[in-house]
Amino acid sequence: MYYFVTGGSRGIGAGIVEFAARRGHHVAFTYVSNAEAAERSKQAAEAAAKQAGHEGVQIRHYQLDVKDVERVEAVADQVLEDFETMEVIVNCAGVNRDNLMVAMSNEEWREVLATNLDGPFYVCRQFLQTLMANRFGRIINISSIQHEGGSGQANYAAAKAGLHGLTKTLAKEYGRRGITANVVVPGFFDTDMTRETMPQANKDYWKQYCPMPKGRMGKVDELAGVVDFLASEAGAFVNGEVINVTGGLGWTV
Ligand SMILES: NC(=O)c1ccc[n+]([C@@H]2O[C@H](COP(=O)([O-])OP(=O)(O)OC[C@H]3O[C@@H](n4cnc5c(N)ncnc54)[C@H](OP(=O)(O)O)[C@@H]3O)[C@@H](O)[C@H]2O)c1
Repeated sequence: MYYFVTGGSRGIGAGIVEFAARRGHHVAFTYVSNAEAAERSKQAAEAAAKQAGHEGVQIRHYQLDVKDVERVEAVADQVLEDFETMEVIVNCAGVNRDNLMVAMSNEEWREVLATNLDGPFYVCRQFLQTLMANRFGRIINISSIQHEGGSGQANYAAAKAGLHGLTKTLAKEYGRRGITANVVVPGFFDTDMTRETMPQANKDYWKQYCPMPKGRMGKVDELAGVVDFLASEAGAFVNGEVINVTGGLGWTV
């Protein structure tokens, strides 16, 4: 199959790119500023594909700020020229800019809404023509347990909750055309985002209450495997769902 993954240079997105390549899928993925990480992700995916015996797998990366609708259009055109088609769209690019609401700036609000909600809207809208023409598509949007609200994350929570509404609408509008749309909700995964910005109190809470051995974090393959299932034939009748990959802990402070 043909995958388009935003935010595939690092963390969860890089895990999804590598997992898909290992399964023999072609992958176009994006990064916004970290070209070195994008190159590392590409090489890891190519190595994984090769190791699994998939010699012809094509992996390409593209610079894209998902906030920029004109760049989304240009990159999508380029991807369709390079790959000729697209089937699985994974919106994984995301940022957080935490602050208590009383102190949250307009810029912090806009940056997070624009990246985590406007971006997926632009990307989905752009690829819908191709998916509709193929009468096949899998849209998978990466959310967060914070969609239910999280202290210091009014912007992030609002964006992720909005992503659920967007996804469920896609499921209803395009299910009849062979396109499914689902949300995957990660719990706590060890990535740059959580390493750099997650408050220690949340990490301690997770370790204490997550019903997994030693309150462990998720591994990116455990998230990527769920994306793989949703994209596969086995996942064809799952549409408009919110799937938690949280080890059983769905709530933080
Ligand atoms: N890690 C967790 O535990 C966790 C939990 C819940 C939800 N999530 C969600 O999972 C997704 C991935 O998170 P992560 O932890 O893997 O994050 P990460 O390690 O910080 O990686 C973020 C990725 O998004 C890209 N990106 C950031 N801003 C962008 C923009 N404006 N346009 C295009 N791409 C952009 C980055 O590109 P560069 O490399 O170029 O900077 C990078 O590839 C996010 O949507 C996040 O909200 C993560």
